[in-house]
Amino acid sequence: MSFKSLFIIVLLVSVLTIVLGQRNDGNCTASAGDIQECSQTIYSNCKNATFIANRMTYSDQCSEVSLFWDAPMYNMTILFQRNLTKSYSICIKPVGCSKAYRTLDDGHEVSIEWDSFNRQPVCFKTERNDRSTMKFRFDAGSQWRCYGTFINFSYRF
Ligand SMILES: *[C@@H]1O[C@H](CO)[C@@H](O)[C@H](O)[C@H]1NC(C)=O
Ligand SMILES: *[C@@H]1O[C@H](CO)[C@@H](O)[C@H](O)[C@H]1NC(C)=O
Ligand SMILES: *[C@@H]1O[C@H](CO)[C@@H](O)[C@H](O)[C@H]1NC(C)=O
Ligand SMILES: *[C@@H]1O[C@H](CO)[C@@H](O)[C@H](O)[C@H]1NC(C)=O
Ligand SMILES: *[C@@H]1O[C@H](CO)[C@@H](O)[C@H](O)[C@H]1NC(C)=O
Repeated sequence: MSFKSLFIIVLLVSVLTIVLGQRNDGNCTASAGDIQECSQTIYSNCKNATFIANRMTYSDQCSEVSLFWDAPMYNMTILFQRNLTKSYSICIKPVGCSKAYRTLDDGHEVSIEWDSFNRQPVCFKTERNDRSTMKFRFDAGSQWRCYGTFINFSYRF
């Protein structure tokens, strides 16, 4: 290999490192694996990741959808989209390894607590019939504490 091509490779690797390194900061769209029946794996590449969970992309047969958040760290904001013009509720099972907040339409956040004994899902109603997206932020903090965590959700009408 010539010195010139080696130089170009080194340069390319440095540029890639810088580009990928920058993805570890700031905001990004979360990556996601293929949908396996009623579950999907999501990954974050940055400190403020956003994932859109559109109900239309999951089978109607799914009574519950499981998102497996791989290597949770920092913020994962999930926008649950349900293409409806009537009110509905989303119910979320206890999520480990992270704090959870609902973001209201006005931007305020409400902390979500699950009962650690009965492990029941907590349900949230849409604020307005014409706003069918509900936003939640999961904050796993800056230390990598667990292999992965499930965000399992279902809908109620
Ligand atoms: C993540 O977003 C929050 C608010 O939207 C912002 O305060 C914070 O600086 C962002 N973090 C990074 C690393 O950009
Ligand atoms: C990420 O987005 C938040 C809110 O929109 C903003 O405050 C923050 O500066 C952004 N971070 C970067 C690194 O662009
Ligand atoms: C996560 O989001 C919250 C609220 O927007 C923000 O205060 C915090 O700085 C974010 N964390 C990181 C690592 O950006
Ligand atoms: C939502 O439904 C409307 C009408 O039923 C349709 O036109 C639109 O494409 C749907 N949006 C999505 C994201 O599927
Ligand atoms: C979430 O769903 C997964 C896969 O179906 C399951 O293994 C896990 O126990 C569920 N977690 C909770 C808290 O229900």
